Amino acid sequence: MLHRAALQDFVKTKMRATRVVVVSNRQPYMHVYDGDRVIWRRPAGGLVVALDPVLRVAKGSWVATGQTPADRIVVDAESRVRVPPEDPQYTLRRVFLSKEQEEGYYHGFGNEVLWPLCHTAFVRPAFRASDWQHYQAVNQIMSDAALKEAGQGRAFIWTQDFHLALLPRFLKQARPDLSVAHFWHTPWPTPEVFRICPWRRELLEGMLGSDLLGFHIRYHCDNFLATVANELEAKIIAEQSAVQYRGRTTVVKPFPISIDYHRIVQDLESSEVEEETRRIDRLLGGRPEFLAVGVDRIDYTKGLVERLHAIDRFLERYPHYVGRFVYLGIGAPSRIHIPAYKELRGDIAQRVEEINWKYGTERWQPVILLDHQVSYPRVLAYLAMADVCLVTALHDGMNLVGKEFIAAQQGEKPGVLILSRFTGAARELAEALPINPYDIEGTAEAIRQALEMPQEERGRRCRWLQEQIQDHDIYRWALDMLNEVRRIRRGRL
Ligand code: G6P
Repeated sequence: MLHRAALQDFVKTKMRATRVVVVSNRQPYMHVYDGDRVIWRRPAGGLVVALDPVLRVAKGSWVATGQTPADRIVVDAESRVRVPPEDPQYTLRRVFLSKEQEEGYYHGFGNEVLWPLCHTAFVRPAFRASDWQHYQAVNQIMSDAALKEAGQGRAFIWTQDFHLALLPRFLKQARPDLSVAHFWHTPWPTPEVFRICPWRRELLEGMLGSDLLGFHIRYHCDNFLATVANELEAKIIAEQSAVQYRGRTTVVKPFPISIDYHRIVQDLESSEVEEETRRIDRLLGGRPEFLAVGVDRIDYTKGLVERLHAIDRFLERYPHYVGRFVYLGIGAPSRIHIPAYKELRGDIAQRVEEINWKYGTERWQPVILLDHQVSYPRVLAYLAMADVCLVTALHDGMNLVGKEFIAAQQGEKPGVLILSRFTGAARELAEALPINPYDIEGTAEAIRQALEMPQEERGRRCRWLQEQIQDHDIYRWALDMLNEVRRIRRGRL
């Protein structure tokens, strides 16, 4: 609660005359038709989970792309709608793109170039000049929309992620007086990986339009600084962790993103979560003796096939768990037009079928997969009842699911988090069980270790993790970034 109040206070006292505008590709709320009725949903993904609570406090506007026909219906003539829909607190300005723009900028350049490149995933980036054209054009469109939201006066524009790398530069070119911070939600690769990108200079120059550039961890900042040193005639000021380029300075620092810990604890008590818990029990036909969960977007960076291999190996090695252990995976479909994602869905379905065939009986199946988006109260209910949560990302900027799982462990028998070493979260969550998700034997062993961990040790680890997350919640993340922007601005004046 403390950090939330501090952020509120900061916005009220230090940013009174400043408009706050967040710009991202993904919107925090989407509207869809349910028959004739328009209802709303929360898109999956860490970015919107993290930033919505911040905007509720900071007010201001959020500029993002709209997707659905219903998204168009509910906005006013300026393409704006107040959100959260059930309790409006800030403005969402939707930008609608043509199909070709969405294809080139989002599917193409964003998700088939920058996503695999930044995750150093073993999926080859697809460099297409036409996607790059769309990427530039859409960044310009988003910049124009953000400038409209900023108005004429003092404003702070907080741009987000790999979809909008060019935005800081466009904004500063139009209005050098603006404060601009950019937060990069994915990892940043080593210079050797990034140098294969034909448009690397333009991307770096775009990002260096910001006053502050944030990554989750120091390692990503160091990779970025090394990349800049390799590619541009820029000066790196190591002691200030800053870059000087063409008369401008950009400070580059780590800000590990997080969750609204107290809100999760509060929501666990809600009647919706209680109702969902009962429904899940009905679905499972009673609680299994040992329940493991995973909550992910279906993405090749999340190590979902590796996770299934590890579950298979675990049951093979420890057959006394057969019939007593269930893994329940919630996989939100994601980026489904992209070939690598389509293929992955097929691979997962095949693995699930094989494992269930190998071990399943008429009354029991080891793996249950829900491959649709699940409501927030239901996700909380799953997380709260699980003995183990599996986060097996092959590479992840942060990963908020592990943090949500720990926040949801408020009962008497806290569960154990198995956490990939290759997530940003692993740097903070030292009392989770670390794994290398490529090491199938090691992950299988971690599942056994988690299930057999004595109560006392589970409790101790969980309390430590809860304190860590409470102390570094999403409000502190926002406050740290805003303080840094203010410090930079004051230094400049
Ligand atoms: C990651 C990215 C976000 C993105 C989210 C969901 O967390 O860093 O920018 O919003 O995935 O992906 P999507 O493509 O559905 O927005």
